[in-house]
Amino acid sequence: DKAPLLFKPFTVKDLTIPNRIVVAPMCMYSSKDGFFTNFHLVSIGSFAINGPGLIIQEATAVQPNGRITPGCAGLWDDAHVHKLKEVVDFVHVQGSKIGIQLAHAGRKASAKAPYTNHSESDFWLDNVVAPSGGEHLQWDRHHRVPRALSVEEIQEVVNAFGSAAARAARAGMDTVEIHGAHGYLIHNFLSPLTNERTDHYGGSLENRARFLLEVVRAVRANFPAEKPILLRLSASDLVEDVVDGPSWNLEQTIQIAKWVRDAGVDVLHVSSGGNTAQQKINAVPGYQVPFAERIKKEVPGLYVIAVGIITNGKQAEHILDEEKADLIAGGRSFLRHPSFALDLARDLNVKAAFSQQYSRGRTTHS
Ligand code: FNR
Repeated sequence: DKAPLLFKPFTVKDLTIPNRIVVAPMCMYSSKDGFFTNFHLVSIGSFAINGPGLIIQEATAVQPNGRITPGCAGLWDDAHVHKLKEVVDFVHVQGSKIGIQLAHAGRKASAKAPYTNHSESDFWLDNVVAPSGGEHLQWDRHHRVPRALSVEEIQEVVNAFGSAAARAARAGMDTVEIHGAHGYLIHNFLSPLTNERTDHYGGSLENRARFLLEVVRAVRANFPAEKPILLRLSASDLVEDVVDGPSWNLEQTIQIAKWVRDAGVDVLHVSSGGNTAQQKINAVPGYQVPFAERIKKEVPGLYVIAVGIITNGKQAEHILDEEKADLIAGGRSFLRHPSFALDLARDLNVKAAFSQQYSRGRTTHS
């Protein structure tokens, strides 16, 4: 039929997402000791009431020192599950699907939250870990100098991803997204800019991707087999002058996309940047779509989500229609307007499903 693709259901494994609109994960710095709060219930709930297909909860640390800030969410403890389940149950009653992004901040841990508790000092965390350490790898002067993980510690992080995935399943999550983007731990391993290891976790592409693949397998083994797994990657470090040089780029991303597909990733969420202050981002509408398009073309069997300044329905529909991506994510638009999914519907003249509690909002004042 002629209904816009954006409002057609999308099925991956046993998960059917009611439309192709995804809320991108966004840190809210509103947790304490990793716990989700009523803020999350209300914020995520406000999105869910307004009908996106899938909501991905913010970067959630699998270990305490994997938090970006002390306000970041966590899933390293069974006690974290209870509140998360409340959020999941609410979203499900509203008819949307929900996933959570599992993360470790790597060398970008130990930042201060941009607001909330300003009595915190810089350096609230003294154990900042990364594939490689040393002052030259300090993210900036507000972050600590990272130290290199031992091989034993790498295994602990891998296991922590697996345990967090099991907890996400217990909370009823429909999917989990592994955070491999934006200069956090997994990206630190992938990029030659931040991985100087000489053991089997550094050097060749295969070695730099080893940690990611171990994480993927641990998550896959601990999450229900019938539910899909997402992975977010930065497709490039966006350092133009070294396209084939010692940075992370699209060609390497395409190669490892095949490996992660074979290891059990169902959907790749294609972002970019975040691993070096030298990056040059040309933030025009849809600026990351070409990355998603190339990956979709070159890695059959892997679905892709496009994200980054996709702000109206016609633009989103065009991306799907031209088969550049399978799903469309929005971030800041949902913050400006939690009913952004309805804006997209209006752009495409679709009568989107309204929360039944809000259905009288359709009637005009008279
Ligand atoms: C983000 N982004 C982000 N990305 C991610 O992978 N994990 C995260 O937790 C966060 N946190 C976050 C917080 C806030 C406040 C913003 C604005 C962004 C990036 C986000 O998911 C998205 O990729 C970008 O915002 C680009 O999409 P838009 O905003 O142009 O639609």
